[in-house]
Amino acid sequence: MKILALHGPNLNMLGRREPEVYGSTTLAQIDQALAERAKAAGATLLSFQSNHEGALIDFLQAEGWDADGIIINPGALTHYGLSLRDALASLKCPIVEVHISNVYKREPFRHNSVVAPVATGQIAGLGWRGYMLALEWLL
Ligand code: DQA
Repeated sequence: MKILALHGPNLNMLGRREPEVYGSTTLAQIDQALAERAKAAGATLLSFQSNHEGALIDFLQAEGWDADGIIINPGALTHYGLSLRDALASLKCPIVEVHISNVYKREPFRHNSVVAPVATGQIAGLGWRGYMLALEWLL
């Protein structure tokens, strides 16, 4: 079983970036926890972060076709990343959209996700553990 974890713009700054909103856990810690849980279940986890929409699309085109599940926090691309949305729409496996913060309690521009209509489900507001819950569901 092959699972992808994609992280969009600014998520490489987790731990330092607005810790009151996003917590103090770093992206490396999240990726390590995901990889360990996946390995324990006999699955492979491939993680990728980019600040560039095209790089996320390149990764999906290279690794998405034979993936069994995708966890994605698109960062702000959630709200306007139509190319990323189209790349996700072309894939057949389940997709879980994850947000560390509860985007619906925040600024109005965060209330709309262009990714949600092509995702299987969404987890928002449960901190970094949302990624782990997404992985559990995919497993
Ligand atoms: C986020 C929410 C987005 O609105 C924001 O642009 C992010 C992170 C979250 O995980 O809560 O970069 O996706």
